[in-house]
This record gives sequence, structure tokens and C-alpha cells, in this order.
Amino acid sequence: MNNSLHIKSFVKRSGRLTNSQKIYLKNKEKDLNFFSAEREFDYKEFFNNYNPCVLDIGFGDGKLLTSIAKKFPELNFIGIEVYESGVGNILKQISKEELTNIKVSCHDAVIFLENFITDNSLYGLSLFFPDPWPKKKHYKRRIINEDFLNLANRKIAKNGFIKIATDWSNYSDHIIKIFDQNTNFERINDIYLYKKRCLTKFEKRGISLGHKITELSYKVK
Ligand SMILES: C[S@@+](CC[C@H](N)C(=O)[O-])C[C@H]1O[C@@H](n2cnc3c(N)ncnc32)[C@H](O)[C@@H]1O
Repeated sequence: MNNSLHIKSFVKRSGRLTNSQKIYLKNKEKDLNFFSAEREFDYKEFFNNYNPCVLDIGFGDGKLLTSIAKKFPELNFIGIEVYESGVGNILKQISKEELTNIKVSCHDAVIFLENFITDNSLYGLSLFFPDPWPKKKHYKRRIINEDFLNLANRKIAKNGFIKIATDWSNYSDHIIKIFDQNTNFERINDIYLYKKRCLTKFEKRGISLGHKITELSYKVK
């Protein structure tokens, strides 16, 4: 993939930062829970173990990701988010909860996956409420498309999973269609990790607007 021609699935938001977010962001380079992606991600170096690893794209305020990581200490988690205040937030939560199984970075997740994750190395990939880009002229910005499925298939190990939730039926219809056309994935009922998960911020917003939530789970064959 040519990184400079890649269509971004986000516009960088520059919302107001709280004081604690500012402090965690200012100190992030010294924070062992934060990494700058510069070379291939070394699981052993970052987690000091070889536990299976799940990568979450666009963790937002980070509450769901930290709650799952807390519940499953036998797994490792990488969180990638471009939204700075989300990164500040999650670093605070990780530190407060003393979690040792999450590492986060502020990066375009597509570029990160392509360049810094070893092929066939992930146990799972999750995307909770990826930006829906509802206008037709913006569909090309949606992160989940045929190229993304091929990339995910390359990075997730056999029998690993991809979990997606969205409140935009037009996006979920498209996601189901492209997975149906891709013979490398098999749709499954659910993934044990997410059975009793908390609702995310964007999910609550979708529900308040009367949107139907669609959860999709696939296994890599
Ligand atoms: C609609 S929000 C959902 C946030 C959270 N998962 C939730 O459910 O509340 C989508 C998030 O994905 C992030 N995002 C979008 N494209 C991304 C990309 N290519 N790499 C990393 N983060 C991305 C955005 O910054 C945003 O915070």
C-alpha cells in the first residue's frame, strides 16, 4: 500500500483536553503503556509474554477496551486511536487500574497494521462503532472495505477473529456483503470476550437516536 495515497478514515478532532488528559499526553513518551510505532511491533518486548493479542481500532474514550483487558488478563491488547484526548484518557485508566496487558499508540490503524504488525500474528481485531461516514460521497472513507478485509486476513492468525459493531444499517449491510464475498472468513455467533461487554459512548449515542445495533463476528479460516 502506498501510505501517501491511502484515504483516511478519520478527520483529526481537536476537542478540548482535560487537565489529566494533558498530563498523560505530555508524559506519554515516558509511559510504558504508550508506544510510538516506528518498527515492527515486538510482542515479547512490550508485554514480556507470548499471550495471544487483540488489536482494537478506534477505542474512543477507552472504557470498553480497558474493561475487556481487565477481565481477560491472559490476553494482550493493543489499542490504536488517532483521537488525542482518547489516548490521554486511556493512559489514565490503564495507570489507575494498574493494567499490564494494554499498550496504546496514536496512529492511523490501517498504516500501523500494514507496516508494523507481523503477518499471522494477531489473535483478534476489533472495531466498535467505526466512523460511519453516512453520506454516499464519503463511503470511500469507511475503514471497512475489501482492501481492509484482505489486510486483516493477512495479519490475523488462523482461527483468530474479527469483531465489529455498528449502529448504521447501511454500513452493516455493506460489511456483511463484503465478508460474504471473501472466502477467508466464516461468520460465527459471537466471541466469548464480548459476551457481557459494557456499552460504548458511540453505541449509547446510537441507541438514543433509535439506531439498531448490529454486532458481527467472523473467524479467519
Ligand atoms: C465513532 S468513534 C467510536 C469510538 C469508540 N469505539 C466507541 O464506540 O465509543 C470512531 C473512532 O475511531 C477512530 N478512528 C477512525 N479511523 C481511525 C484510524 N484509521 N486509526 C485509528 N483510529 C481511527 C476515531 O478517532 C474515533 O475515535
